[in-house]
Amino acid sequence: MDLTGKNVVLTGASKGIGREFLHLLLAEGAHVLGVSRSIEKDATLVHERLRVKNADLSRPEEIDAVFEYARGHFGRIDVFVANAGFTYYELLERADWEHIRSIMDVNVTSVIYSAVKMRELYPAEPFVFMATLSAVSFLSLPGYGVYSATKAALRGFFDAFEHELPADQKLLRVYPVATATDFFDRAAQDKPPPPVQSASHVAMKMLEGLKKEKRHIYPSRLFKWMYRLFPWAYGPYLKKRRQELFETRGRPPGEIDERKDEES
Ligand SMILES: NC(=O)c1ccc[n+]([C@@H]2O[C@H](COP(=O)([O-])OP(=O)(O)OC[C@H]3O[C@@H](n4cnc5c(N)ncnc54)[C@H](OP(=O)(O)O)[C@@H]3O)[C@@H](O)[C@H]2O)c1
Repeated sequence: MDLTGKNVVLTGASKGIGREFLHLLLAEGAHVLGVSRSIEKDATLVHERLRVKNADLSRPEEIDAVFEYARGHFGRIDVFVANAGFTYYELLERADWEHIRSIMDVNVTSVIYSAVKMRELYPAEPFVFMATLSAVSFLSLPGYGVYSATKAALRGFFDAFEHELPADQKLLRVYPVATATDFFDRAAQDKPPPPVQSASHVAMKMLEGLKKEKRHIYPSRLFKWMYRLFPWAYGPYLKKRRQELFETRGRPPGEIDERKDEES
């Protein structure tokens, strides 16, 4: 795909991976609508082909307003990038409906709603819908149970939805490993799980993937092969995590040995 003159909506554009991607899209000649809850207050985001719009994507009426604004300004949306998302790092010991719902709304419901909305608006026209999933959609990590569930849920949705679409309506999934952004401030954890990549590297891989219209984009080649060929390679890391949980809770978490399951 040649991005020159293409109209792109990019959520989560105010910082981290989205902000890096925003600059790459502009450099490719795209017209971009950058969206986040706070992006309008950033006076440094100025470009003749850039518009910004505040929206809380946990609210359907605000997602509708983003689509309305984009169509009013661009006429047509060629590419929608659902990148906004957040995580919690936590031990799940209390059943808190609102806490679980808040992350599901942003990471899952808003993405599915936006993808279906593209289909509804452009039933017979080509489009690309790209979403930032995560390596944890394949490999869940303790402390990230609900977050991992959000990204795995998106994977399930995309795998089914693409069978409902014609060939020129494309779904692109990105699976970053831990990326050095503010994301882990929200997770309130000092050390992201290894390997760690830079936001600029992930954004660059997203751009390459978008230009080639790749259905699956793995910014870390190491992860792509390691999780497929050596699922037990994360064993020492998971063991260390269990030890940390033990220290926090004061009682031992269950030992899980994937290799024994495979043997039996
Ligand atoms: N960093 C990682 O290790 C990593 C790894 C794998 C996948 N990912 C995924 O990559 C994506 C980007 O993550 P990042 O690391 O760049 O995170 P980040 O630096 O924390 O940026 C998150 C972006 O999402 C926006 N956002 C959050 N909640 C929102 C809401 N309710 N409505 C609208 N915008 C909202 C934020 O802007 P405002 O605060 O202004 O709303 C910000 O622009 C996420 O989907 C994340 O799950 C991240």
